[in-house]
Amino acid sequence: MDFSRAVFPLLRRLDPERAHNLTIWALRNGFGPEREVESDPRLHQTLWGLDFPNPVGISAGFDKNAEVFDPLLRAGFGFVEVGTVTPRPQVGNPKPRLFRLPEDGALINRMGFNNDGLDPVIARLSNRRGGVVGVNIGINKDCTDAERDYALAAGRLAPLADYLVINVSSPNTPGLRALQSKSALRGLVGRVQTALRDSVPKPPPLLVKIAPDLTIEDERDIADVAMTLGLQGLIVSNTTIGRTIPLVSPYRGEGGGLSGRPLFEQSTALLARMYRMTEGTIPIIGVGGICTARDAYEKIRAGASLVQLYSALALQGPTLLPEILDGLGDLLTADGFDTVGDAVGAARR
Ligand SMILES: Cc1cc2nc3c(=O)[nH]c(=O)nc-3n(C[C@H](O)[C@H](O)[C@H](O)COP(=O)(O)O)c2cc1C
Repeated sequence: MDFSRAVFPLLRRLDPERAHNLTIWALRNGFGPEREVESDPRLHQTLWGLDFPNPVGISAGFDKNAEVFDPLLRAGFGFVEVGTVTPRPQVGNPKPRLFRLPEDGALINRMGFNNDGLDPVIARLSNRRGGVVGVNIGINKDCTDAERDYALAAGRLAPLADYLVINVSSPNTPGLRALQSKSALRGLVGRVQTALRDSVPKPPPLLVKIAPDLTIEDERDIADVAMTLGLQGLIVSNTTIGRTIPLVSPYRGEGGGLSGRPLFEQSTALLARMYRMTEGTIPIIGVGGICTARDAYEKIRAGASLVQLYSALALQGPTLLPEILDGLGDLLTADGFDTVGDAVGAARR
C-alpha cells in the first residue's frame, strides 16, 4: 500500500501547518511515495550543466530546512529547492500563519522565514546523494545589513548547492521586497557574485526570485540588472499580496502571501513579460498556481525552462506529481515537440 496516498485524506483534516510537519516527518522516515516508472526521455533537460530528469520541481518553503530533499527526488521531482534559509535560526510569525482555501484552490501564508538557520542546513546538505538541489537564501527579520548577510549565506552554501536563489520577494519579511529596486538589486547581486567567486573556483548558477506585484518599471529594471550582471536565472514568482481575484473561502481575509490557482494568470503573464524583456537569454523557473499538466505546459510555452509548485501539492496530495509528469509528455507529443526544451517559449514564436 502507498502510505502517502492512504494518509493524505486524514492530513487534510488537520491544521495545515501540523499536516505539513507530519508530511516532513513521514518523508524523513521513509513513508514517502516512490516513482517507479523510468523517467520519460522527452522530459529530460540539461541546464547550467545540470541534468534535470524532468522539469517539475518543488518550490522553496516546502523543505525549508533541507530535511527531505532525497525523498522528494525519489518521489519523482525533477529538482528540489530547499529554504528559504536565513543566516541565523528564526521562529517566524505567531501561529496560525498558514491557511487552506480549498474552494479557491489556494493557500495564504505569513510564515515569516521560520527555519533552522545556516549551520544545520549546511550539515544536512553535506550528506547529499544525487539529483539537483538548489538553495534559496533570505535574511533574518532583525538583519541590519542585507548585502552582508546574503553574501555570507551564499559564500557558505556555494560548495554545496547546485544553484542558489536570492529571495527578495517574500511578503512576510518587512523591507525585503524593496531589495527588488534597481540600485538595491544591482548592489546585492554584485556583492553575492563576489562572495561566490571568493568561495569556490566554479560558483553555482545564481538566480533571483521575484514577486508578482511589481510595477512595469520594476520589471524592466530587474530584466536589465539580470542581463547586465549576468544572472543565470530568474524565478517567477513568489506569492502575491494582491487580492485581485475574488475569493470565496472563509480565510480569504487573512493577511500574507496568496498562492495556488488564483496566482496562475498573474504569475504566468509576468513570466511571459520577463522572457520577452530578457530576450529569452536567461533561463526562467516558472512557479505560481500550477495545478495540472496543462498549467505546467502553459508556463513552459510562456518561457519557463523549468517549473515548480507547492500549493496544489498541499491541496491535492501525492497523486498530483505523476499526473503532471504523464500529462506533460502527452502534451509535448500532441504539439509535435520531441523534448521539453523545444517547447520553451513556444507561445512567443
Ligand atoms: C507555506 C508556504 C511557504 C513558502 N515559503 C517560501 C519560502 O520560504 N521562500 C520562497 O522563496 N518561497 C516560499 N513560498 C512560495 C512558493 O515557493 C511559491 O513561489 C508560491 O507558493 C507559488 O507557487 P504555488 O502557487 O505552486 O504554491 C512559500 C509558499 C507557501 C505556500
